[in-house]
Amino acid sequence: MPHTLETRVLLEGAEDPRLATLQGYRDIVGGYATLEKAYKSMEQDEVLKELEESGLRGRGGAGFSMGKKASFLPRGDMDKYLCCNADESEPGAFKDRELMQRNPHQLIEGIAIAALAADAGHAFIFIRGEYDSQADVLDAAVAEAYEAGYLGTDILGTRRNLELVVHRGAGAYICGEETALLDALEGKRGNPRLKPPFPAVQGLYGGPTLINNVETLSNVPRIVAKGAEWFRQFGTEQSPGTKVVSISGRVRRPGNYEISLGLPTRDLIYELAGGPLPGRTVKAIYPGGSSSPVLTAEEAMDLPYSFEAMAEAGSMLGSGSVIVADDQVSIPLMALRTARFYHHESCGKCTPCREGTNWTVKMLERVVRGEATPMDLDIISSVQENIMGHCLCVLGDSMAMPVSAMVRKFRGEFEQTMAEAAEGIDPHVVVDAAPETLGAAT
Ligand SMILES: Cc1cc2nc3c(=O)[nH]c(=O)nc-3n(C[C@H](O)[C@H](O)[C@H](O)COP(=O)(O)O)c2cc1C
Ligand code: SF4
Repeated sequence: MPHTLETRVLLEGAEDPRLATLQGYRDIVGGYATLEKAYKSMEQDEVLKELEESGLRGRGGAGFSMGKKASFLPRGDMDKYLCCNADESEPGAFKDRELMQRNPHQLIEGIAIAALAADAGHAFIFIRGEYDSQADVLDAAVAEAYEAGYLGTDILGTRRNLELVVHRGAGAYICGEETALLDALEGKRGNPRLKPPFPAVQGLYGGPTLINNVETLSNVPRIVAKGAEWFRQFGTEQSPGTKVVSISGRVRRPGNYEISLGLPTRDLIYELAGGPLPGRTVKAIYPGGSSSPVLTAEEAMDLPYSFEAMAEAGSMLGSGSVIVADDQVSIPLMALRTARFYHHESCGKCTPCREGTNWTVKMLERVVRGEATPMDLDIISSVQENIMGHCLCVLGDSMAMPVSAMVRKFRGEFEQTMAEAAEGIDPHVVVDAAPETLGAAT
């Protein structure tokens, strides 16, 4: 049963395994009725207008207006493409996995309708290599959709066409960056491209391309079915709609929870995720995945969980993945673990990211080994400053933002760790406790 603080829209009926089949999708949530309506009776501009007016913001990280992005694609007879970003590799994020596994047809219907808005004839779902079983679920659902005439040529006798391919990635976080994803789809090494030109103008195979996240596209069928006004009843003025939030870390019930955006962060953590483990207190959170600047518990708890509130607090909602650290978690070790991840995943193309992630790892290792001095903390901060805004893509910033926030907000703990480590005392290492139960639909 969903928690009373949840607002199930995308996860409606998610407990029923039949939802993953075409018949179940039709029976349980009236699936594909909107595709039929859109393909048979709507023009490109009508679909676009509904999406723009809904205010739907991208759920993959940047929070850009989906309708606006679709409207940037030039008009004309050239081949246009739609890519669904299902790479979901950011630590803390696991909501797309659940959306694809439980309701693959919702995503396929969303892609088909968004393809109308973008006038795209070819669509791809680029799915993270490790999501093997979810890719199998998608393959089966795509086959069913072709069989039923929702994909392919002359869809439902409307003379409109859409080919949809599920493409499995090879397990690199950087391939979630939209232009690296395009290179990977084209069979090259997944390296970010210089922007501009933006993908909407020159993307896959040089053609105009709309790239959106799984959750963004999963919202499309209901927006087109029920209208922008209906969608805006959820969330806030600047963050309309619901959001599937992945909550992990030191909480009793980690899992995915769908909320109306703007719910107090405290409710997310204490009510939905059950709060900290017995005897523990929350110390800090990453509010939007491992790339978001860390907030202290005092900063975070009273904030509404929305794009604008997180930005005003100097962080970001990002992919909507909350990672909770309690008083047992060593912040210097958490910073080191974060830096190691981004260092490992850097494609190495630009110097500030390639060298900066490497230096940061080395300096944080010195901190936890007790070999650093307080001045090294200033150097760590200065390295982060020199990464931010100086790279081709935001992977470098994705390490620099949380690490610099941790050093700034928990400087005393860094200094204490250095002093203790110099005396041979290890920073306390958390051994994960078994969660009480699994949360939400997971
Ligand atoms: C290093 C890096 C990794 C990213 N990984 C993902 C990802 O796994 N999934 C995703 O949807 N967006 C990811 N993004 C954001 C995409 O570049 C892009 O903004 C997004 O797919 C656009 O979709 P949206 O507007 O629907 O959010 C990543 C960005 C960067 C810089
Ligand atoms: S910021 Fe890092 S991951 Fe992005 S292009 Fe530069 S080196 Fe590659």
